[in-house]
Amino acid sequence: MWQTRVSELLTIKYPIIQGGLAYLAYAELAAAVSNSGGLGQITAMSLKNPDELKKEIRKVKQLTDKPFGVNFAIGQNGRPFEHFVEAALEEGVSIMSVTGGNPAGFFSMLAGTNVKKLVLVAAKRQAQKAEELGADAVMVVGQEGGGHLGKNDIGTMVLIPQVIDSVSVPVIASGGIGDGRGMMAAFSLGAEGIEMGTRFIATKECVHAHPLYKKALIDGTENDTVVIKRSLGAPARAISNSWTEKLIRLEKAGAGYEELKEYISGEANKKYIYEGEPDKGFAWAGQVMGIIRDEPSVDELFREMILEAENIRKKWAL
Ligand SMILES: Cc1cc2nc3c(=O)[nH]c(=O)nc-3n(C[C@H](O)[C@H](O)[C@H](O)COP(=O)(O)O)c2cc1C
Repeated sequence: MWQTRVSELLTIKYPIIQGGLAYLAYAELAAAVSNSGGLGQITAMSLKNPDELKKEIRKVKQLTDKPFGVNFAIGQNGRPFEHFVEAALEEGVSIMSVTGGNPAGFFSMLAGTNVKKLVLVAAKRQAQKAEELGADAVMVVGQEGGGHLGKNDIGTMVLIPQVIDSVSVPVIASGGIGDGRGMMAAFSLGAEGIEMGTRFIATKECVHAHPLYKKALIDGTENDTVVIKRSLGAPARAISNSWTEKLIRLEKAGAGYEELKEYISGEANKKYIYEGEPDKGFAWAGQVMGIIRDEPSVDELFREMILEAENIRKKWAL
């Protein structure tokens, strides 16, 4: 029933992908998503070095025998990614996703392997480029999403059909999806899979997220996010707080990267998401926080979403 080109490509039961989540997507979450029938991923560049990545990959393998992926945000902090990719290849990882820059160099490292290549993009042109370079599928994130976004503020509802009409590889919809309704909406648009980020943070197996971060996602509304880093040409959606207010004030006053870097650093991110200090840092989140009301286990989340989606399907069949 959930067979699409995406579930076939990745050999998963449900075409539901857990997006890369900087500093949050480690073995526990990735394995829980894969064990529930989706595709879990570890976020490689959050790890200190390639050896740590190897350890994390081995940990996932102990927790699940299902397929999982490794996500690479390239270009982030300008950190070289090549040794991390080598580590993933040495560990036999068969699915990798990439975002944040031109994937050509990344793909050339995978030439001659059977690794399935997913690219997270935020615009039609980027999706076409990813296909040209050899992506097996594209994940497309609309403006509602958490974390880094496209520059043109195009919402998922408009972006997905546009991309579907312009590439022939399967399209995975991302941005603003948090339940079975969102999933069915994405399939109605022609997507063959979905990716979620924010929704997975408010789950039991996202063990690294501080309870206050999860509470903010559960209690917050769709009005509680804000786009930061726009002045740097890298718009990204975070929970609105005193930290992001200060940052936006500086951006509006014309501050450059040097002045802003303390406000957007990994350290500032970790202050909020690990230490639960909302006034001393920031936390990425999408507008979907407006519909997150609980902290289920990943398996409970999957069961609820599939049930809801299948009920919609039945209703449509009448
Ligand atoms: C906390 C957080 C961290 C993220 N880090 C990454 C990352 O390292 N790599 C990546 O490809 N995407 C990253 N993303 C984007 C997500 O994978 C996904 O595309 C996005 O969250 C989808 O929108 P949603 O939050 O509405 O589900 C991040 C998103 C969030 C919320």
